[in-house]
Amino acid sequence: MNVLITGGTGNIGSRLVIPLVRRGDRVVVFDIRSQPTLASPEFCDVEVVVGDLGDRDAVLELVRSRKIDSIFHFGAVLSGSAEENPYEAWRANIDGTLNVLDASRFSGAQRVMFSSTVATYGEYAPDNLNEDSPQWPISLYGVTKVTAERLGVYYHRKFGLDFRAIRLPIILTSHAAAGAASAYAAAVFEQGVLQGAFEFWVNPTTRAPMLYIDDAVQSFLALHDAPSANLRRRVYNVHGMSPSAAELEHAVRARIPNANISYRPDPAICALIEGWPHQIDDSEARRDWNWKPSWDLNKTADEIIGLLKDELKGK
Ligand SMILES: NC(=O)c1ccc[n+]([C@@H]2O[C@H](COP(=O)([O-])OP(=O)(O)OC[C@H]3O[C@@H](n4cnc5c(N)ncnc54)[C@H](O)[C@@H]3O)[C@@H](O)[C@H]2O)c1
Repeated sequence: MNVLITGGTGNIGSRLVIPLVRRGDRVVVFDIRSQPTLASPEFCDVEVVVGDLGDRDAVLELVRSRKIDSIFHFGAVLSGSAEENPYEAWRANIDGTLNVLDASRFSGAQRVMFSSTVATYGEYAPDNLNEDSPQWPISLYGVTKVTAERLGVYYHRKFGLDFRAIRLPIILTSHAAAGAASAYAAAVFEQGVLQGAFEFWVNPTTRAPMLYIDDAVQSFLALHDAPSANLRRRVYNVHGMSPSAAELEHAVRARIPNANISYRPDPAICALIEGWPHQIDDSEARRDWNWKPSWDLNKTADEIIGLLKDELKGK
């Protein structure tokens, strides 16, 4: 298959490259940045096209000329950066999504996978929420993502596009996504190992849903490959764990006892993250495409800290 990953040099995109290349897909990555977050050997087999999702002609031409079959649409301006650069966020997240959907529609790329977020829920989110819980995001990022979801579902109904989306919780990884308000969850591991110190910008009690990045990649592959007849909806929740900041701190301290970890909560970010649900009902994904997370907090902490220590040794 010819597969396009928008935002493909980013955290999740650069990891998705690995299983796609290994299974023989021809992968094209489109991003404003050329350097991948994870420069795996598989990246050597990828065509990297540098460009802006807001550039409609570039997106349409890319999908047409590369005869793309499936698109993983991950390119986006993340939460913190969206508040700082609202027009850039609108252009990438909304105009960019419209361009990707139109490119698929006009060029016959059948399947569009979209990375949405729990930040689409925001206010009025009940605990243990499901896919049909009200979506009243309190951040511009959430507003752009819920809009993009609705556009995708509309394109499915109107044009038969095979749009499939996952609402991701916060992603735990060895390298925190720049510009995400929720990046504290990954940054405590990264800076705990690399700097020996970290200052949380949320409260010790701030609790939010999370997922290890390998589980996120697996979820997109599983939903992408699921037979259409099994899917009873277009947008699914997935959930891994819901640690508080204090529990993340404990996971780091248990492995790096000398780490100097402190708290200076930013009230605006606390309000944003604490407005998100703690528990997410992902039973629909489990039922329709056998979703099941493989990583809990302890296994994740061992893996991330191991990777970061290896990186330190290699320097
Ligand atoms: N990281 C998380 O915690 C999280 C949680 C929920 C959803 N998501 C979603 O998952 C997707 C991937 O996130 P990630 O963690 O890999 O973040 P990331 O920032 O590492 O990746 C996003 C990529 O999009 C690219 N991009 C931004 N604007 C662009 C534009 N105008 N044109 C082309 N490329 C552009 C960036 O350069 C970056 O490489 C995003 O859509 C994000 O909203 C992430």
